[in-house]
Amino acid sequence: MSETYNIAIDGPAGAGKSTIARAVAAKLGFVYVDTGALYRAMAVCFLRKGISQDDEAQIAAACRDIQIDIRYEDGAQQVFLNGENVTGLIREEEVGKMASASSVYAPVRRKLLNLQRNLAQTANVIMDGRDIGTCVLPDAQTKIYLTASSHVRALRRYRELAEKGLTCNLQEIEQDIIERDYRDMHREIAPLKQAEDAVYVDTSDMTVAQVIDCIIQAARERGLKEN
Ligand code: DC
Repeated sequence: MSETYNIAIDGPAGAGKSTIARAVAAKLGFVYVDTGALYRAMAVCFLRKGISQDDEAQIAAACRDIQIDIRYEDGAQQVFLNGENVTGLIREEEVGKMASASSVYAPVRRKLLNLQRNLAQTANVIMDGRDIGTCVLPDAQTKIYLTASSHVRALRRYRELAEKGLTCNLQEIEQDIIERDYRDMHREIAPLKQAEDAVYVDTSDMTVAQVIDCIIQAARERGLKEN
């Protein structure tokens, strides 16, 4: 089999990674892999079992019985927890918080590593997360570090929730984002950081179209051949 082309996108919560990665994947005919969804599916399991986010031993024990799978339906990623499609459950705030807290533990990260690497070996992927360029796919041909100020990210999240008719508080959202950033960047294993060879893209003052173009351009400069 010929070598696959991999694009790794890392960055903090709310930087726009999934919107951008999905659009780039559609333009290039790549598979989009949202790795946060995998950590979220594991978090669903821990929450259902009533495990505290600080209970490393119980989380490690629960990991032994967890099977996570990804499938694609009409091009959309579906995540399965022990055979159950949990895609509709993973966007809750509570699940995001548990995912961030539980992803600091080695057994949780180990559980997902091979799944992510296998996906990247079998297809051209654009994979987003926190440690893709630094740890999961260190040989990815293109690496992007996508970020925006915490204020801009909070505003985007606020507008998203407001559009859904949900009442929310901008200060609280920004505070949550700052806490999540801190935890993701300061954990011991595979913390969020820019890979040395990653292109730094601050999207605070960029349109979605500009960010998409910027990433495709970076990939072309790094050997991407389009059909
Ligand atoms: O991208 P997201 O918000 O769906 O991710 C949820 C949490 O999962 C995030 O706060 C940290 C963790 N995560 C991780 O540790 N490594 C990844 N590659 C992706 C997500």
